[in-house]
Amino acid sequence: MLLSCDLKLSISGGCATLNNSLKHSLRENFPALHNSATAYLDSASTCQVPSIVINAISTYLATGHGNAQRGMYQFSENASNLHQQCRNKVAEFINAPLSSDIIFTKSTTESINLIAHSLRQRLTQAHSILVTAMEHHANLLPWQRLCQQTGARLNVLPVDDSGELDTSNLTTYLNDNCALFAVTHISNVTGLVNDIHQLCKTGHQYNVPVLVDGAQAIGHRQVDISQIDCDYYVFSGHKMYGPTGIGVLYCKSLENEPLEPLEPLEPLEPLLLGGGIVNKVTLDNYQLKTDVEKFEAGSANMLGIVGLIAAIEFIDSIGWPVLKQHEQEVSGYLLCALSSIDDITILPTEEGSPVLSFVHKQVHSHDVASILALKNIAVRAGHHCAQPYLKAMGFKHSLRVSLGCYSSFEDIDSFVAGLNKVSRTFTY
Ligand code: ALA
Repeated sequence: MLLSCDLKLSISGGCATLNNSLKHSLRENFPALHNSATAYLDSASTCQVPSIVINAISTYLATGHGNAQRGMYQFSENASNLHQQCRNKVAEFINAPLSSDIIFTKSTTESINLIAHSLRQRLTQAHSILVTAMEHHANLLPWQRLCQQTGARLNVLPVDDSGELDTSNLTTYLNDNCALFAVTHISNVTGLVNDIHQLCKTGHQYNVPVLVDGAQAIGHRQVDISQIDCDYYVFSGHKMYGPTGIGVLYCKSLENEPLEPLEPLEPLEPLLLGGGIVNKVTLDNYQLKTDVEKFEAGSANMLGIVGLIAAIEFIDSIGWPVLKQHEQEVSGYLLCALSSIDDITILPTEEGSPVLSFVHKQVHSHDVASILALKNIAVRAGHHCAQPYLKAMGFKHSLRVSLGCYSSFEDIDSFVAGLNKVSRTFTY
C-alpha cells in the first residue's frame, strides 16, 4: 500500500518518541558512523558493526585463535566452546527448540543452496517447487537450477499491482506435488512483510515444507521460529550488525515427522565435504556424522562465530522495542520527506518499514546514487538482485533507502537535500 503524508501528522501530532540521548547513544555504538560525514542508508545491503562486535573479534584474536573441534589445547578448546555457545545463542535468539537445529553456513545464499542441493537426488519430474515473484535472486536461482536439473516444475506465486503476494492460487500450487515452498519473510526491495506464519500453516495443510528467507527480517524484528513454525529459516550475520561470512540455516528438528510428498529430508545432504563431518573415512568411501556438524565441513569461521555472538548480545542489550521504535520513527520521517517531493514515485511500502524504494521521474537511479555518493550519502540503486519483482511492479530499477538502529533524522535530512540537488541539477 502506498502511504500518504498522514504519517507526518502522526509524528508531529505527538507520537511517543525516543529521547535524543537514547538515539545518540544508539549511534555511538558504531565507530564507522560516529563523527563520520557519511549518511549510511544501505543497511538492507549490509549493516555497520558496533564496537561490541569489533572488540569481541579483536579480543578473540588477541587472546588466542584456535581451530574449533580440532585440538585439545586451550586455544582450540576455547574455539570449540565459543562455537557451541554461538549455536545455543542463535537457537535462543530465534526461539528454536534445539541448538542442534542450527547449522552455520557462510550466508543466507549458502543456506538456501544447501537445501536446494539436498533436494537434488530426491526430486523428479513429478515434483514441483513453489517460489514467489517477490524473491531476491538468492531465493530464486537455486530453485531454478534445481528444477532444470531434475525436470521438476517451478511454480511462481505472483504479486499483485501493489507488490503484495497474490495468494489466490496458493493452494493450487501446493497441490501440485509440491516438494518445497520458498518465500521471503520481508522483501529487500519494498520492505513488505509476508504473513509467513499463515503461509507455513497453509503449506503444512498440504504437507509441503516451507523455507523462509529471513535475510531482511533478522535485524529488524524478533523472529520466533516456534511461532512461525517454518521448516527452514535462513539469514546472515551481517544483516544483524555482525560480520559477513557467517550465515544460519535453521532446520526444524530432524526428529520430527517427515513431510510428504518427499521422502524424509533426513539425512539432508551436506553441500560441502571435507574435514570435521565424518565418523570414518577409507580410501574409497566415507561415513558422515549424523548430527548437525556434518553440514559444516572445513574449519569453522571463528571470527564470524565470535562476531555473531556479540551481535546477538548487542541486540539483546538494546531490546527489540527500542530498536523497532527508533526505526519506525526514522522511517516515518523518511516517508513524510519523500512524499513531499514531486519528482519521484515511491514504490509500494508499508508503515514503519526500514526499507523504502522509489524512482526519480527524470533521472536514472544509478545517476541519482552516484550524485548522492559524492555527498557521502550511501543508498543502493539498481535492481537489488530482485529483477523479476521489480519487473512485476513495472520498474527496471529503483533507489533504495534502508535503515538501521543508527539511522538518524539528520541522515534523512542530508539525503533529502541531496535528492533536491539532483532534481535541480537535472531540471535546469
Ligand atoms: N541482499 C542484499 C540487498 O538487498 C545484498 O542489498
